[in-house]
Amino acid sequence: MAFRKLKIASEITEFDSIEELPESIQKMIYLSKEVSQTAYAPYSNFKVGSSVLLENGEIITGSNQENSAYPSGLCAERVALFSANSKYPNVPVKAVVVYGSKGGEKAVDPVAPCGACRQVISEYEDLAGMKIDLYMAGESRVILAKGIESLLPMRFRLL
Ligand code: THU
Repeated sequence: MAFRKLKIASEITEFDSIEELPESIQKMIYLSKEVSQTAYAPYSNFKVGSSVLLENGEIITGSNQENSAYPSGLCAERVALFSANSKYPNVPVKAVVVYGSKGGEKAVDPVAPCGACRQVISEYEDLAGMKIDLYMAGESRVILAKGIESLLPMRFRLL
């Protein structure tokens, strides 16, 4: 046969409550929830907060920032990641937490990062040669992807 179909499998872990996670991650979830309130999201009314844990122990946060010229806005994850890498260049990213909710209501379901944010997370993994733990937090349910590969298989790499 001149072609074959291949399956790409990915693995994620689902937690039934925030309390099952390490205390440091629980804190980052509460921080992300808090910072989601600083979102500038008048167009979507979808408020997202993100916290980035660096290897030096620093935690940098960000919220989504929209603009009337829609594509000029930026997701919370990239606001946090770009801020982290500009303040602490080349310090590896250990974990990223994201929390989002419509109109500031309680988010039952976890929010998964958009494709562009996955690509950015992937490059920070490559830069440090370390996988990033990505926690997608809802009000109770939390999903953990250990490394971006499970959310972005066959990702683009320049190098
Ligand atoms: N958004 C984020 O900030 N992070 C995500 O993971 C998904 C989407 C923002 C972009 C836009 O401001 C709003 O949510 C609605 O798409």
